[in-house]
Amino acid sequence: MADGKKVGGLAGISAGETALCTVGKEGAGLTYRGYDIYDLAQEASFEEVAYLLLRGKLPNQNELNTYIANLKKLRYLPDELKIVLEMTPKDTHPMDVMRTGVSFLGNIEPEDRDFLNQEEVADRLLACLPSILIYWHRFHQDGKKINVETDDNSIAGHFLNMLHGKPPSKLHQKTLDTTLILYAEHEFNASTFTGRVITATLSDMYSAVTGAIGALRGPLHGGANEAAMELIEKFNNPDEATQGILSLLKEKQKIMGFGHRVYTTSDPRNSVNKKMSKVLSDEIGDKKLYAVSEAIESVMWKEKKLFANADFFAASVYHFMGIPTYLFTPIFVCSRITGWAAHIMEQRENNKLIRPAAEYTGPSLKSWLPVHVRN
Ligand code: COA
Repeated sequence: MADGKKVGGLAGISAGETALCTVGKEGAGLTYRGYDIYDLAQEASFEEVAYLLLRGKLPNQNELNTYIANLKKLRYLPDELKIVLEMTPKDTHPMDVMRTGVSFLGNIEPEDRDFLNQEEVADRLLACLPSILIYWHRFHQDGKKINVETDDNSIAGHFLNMLHGKPPSKLHQKTLDTTLILYAEHEFNASTFTGRVITATLSDMYSAVTGAIGALRGPLHGGANEAAMELIEKFNNPDEATQGILSLLKEKQKIMGFGHRVYTTSDPRNSVNKKMSKVLSDEIGDKKLYAVSEAIESVMWKEKKLFANADFFAASVYHFMGIPTYLFTPIFVCSRITGWAAHIMEQRENNKLIRPAAEYTGPSLKSWLPVHVRN
């Protein structure tokens, strides 16, 4: 209650300091450690961005080579974890698989009690989250126990190679890599804040990441990319989409992939995703999904002045690369692990328990009544 007014969902309240990221600051829509997201999306690789977030600076060539080689070595899955993934039912949501995978890894490769190996834990999670996801997916969809140690240097290439059983085209590798850069970090969003709250109790990194995955799963946060895809696929052409959205808005329904808590006029990540969606749509000769997406974007702006956020065009980008919809939010995890881990380490540098106050709205003090005299 900054000015005596009720503020729902902590909107606009500063809940701490960070040197990792700015969101919606004047002149720069999104920056990671001082670098503009547009420069990073165009020039960097996801591994460079991961290094920037987790080690505090951009790597030089030697550092980058060593980092990539190290991440490649950390892609393996222990047999116990493979058994857990094989036993996790086929109809489990993959976000729950990720949550279980991280939690179980924390049992067999725990973090040091004094967090001395926190950077190694972060790297291990970054390297093996795609393995956890795709091992489970392929085991249950194709009955295959895939090799999770491919030759691809990039996490994006590795992901697509495991998923499709062959190395991806340069275009697909670069496109997925770019979406990983765009999703990597976003200040005190709900999942990152969850991770910081858990970290602030001096809990371990696996617990913080497990909680963060739980927060990201919901459709108001990361789950929006899957919900957006389900919406886009309902319509056969732009006119149908426009009419459909108008009726949904009339029913006061939320359109997933639109709006944002911090950005007010646009999400800087959207223009990059939209461009990539167009390129892929042309590549496969799509005549429907991109046009439908544009129609939805246009009617949302016209009717509600609401803009597409990062999740909206990410949905068609992933779809055009043959990625099943239920893997969209887990891809977000494979990227945001960098931001989460960087925030966990930052929280530990200057830790204070996060424990806000609440306004009590319950009954006033009552007299205790023994059970036999209660109505
Ligand atoms: N579709 C339709 N209406 C929307 C909307 C959407 N996607 N997003 C916001 N609104 C409307 C709300 O209905 C509300 O209208 P009202 O004042 O008439 O009740 C108003 O805009 C404010 O929305 P609210 O949900 O209170 O804002 P918020 O700051 O709490 O929410 C989001 C931010 C992101 C949760 C919200 O925009 C949303 O639910 N978007 C869809 C989910 C999504 O894409 N999430 C990913 C975010 S990156």
